[in-house]
Amino acid sequence: MKKILCICLGNICRSPMAAGILKKVSEDFGIPMQVDSAGTAAYHNGEPAHRLSIKVALEFGVDISAHRAQPFKLEFFDQYDLLLCMDFDHVQSLREKARIEEDLKKIHLYRIDQTIIDDPYYKGESDYIVMYHRLMEDALYWVKFS
Ligand code: 4NP
Repeated sequence: MKKILCICLGNICRSPMAAGILKKVSEDFGIPMQVDSAGTAAYHNGEPAHRLSIKVALEFGVDISAHRAQPFKLEFFDQYDLLLCMDFDHVQSLREKARIEEDLKKIHLYRIDQTIIDDPYYKGESDYIVMYHRLMEDALYWVKFS
């Protein structure tokens, strides 16, 4: 079973929504996967996802209300096959933590066109809706083809 960890900074806005979308798409396609998320910072450790991530995801049928934020830990390199980062800062942060070549190979930008998922933390609901669509566009790639 494929194991994917989505990565952002605070683990309350982008990566919980990304993980919720991947989980939903994998279930819809009957492809069992383990999906979770983590942040490169621990500011929000233990908190639920941002209220707008929860609201917008739910409006599209993705329930992330059970999510609780956690910081990235080195053992996640062993526990996951793919570490999908929302922007280049997260790629850089994980590269600095990588212990061996195998760790480095697991680190990818989520968007396959190599664009970033913008930080929506100080933005409004419409930005979270755009984020939802940009995450959904590549979800099937990661579930079926990666
Ligand atoms: P996330 O968004 O990395 O998508 O969870 C942010 C959440 C919190 C902060 C920044 C970005 N913050 O500065 O607390």
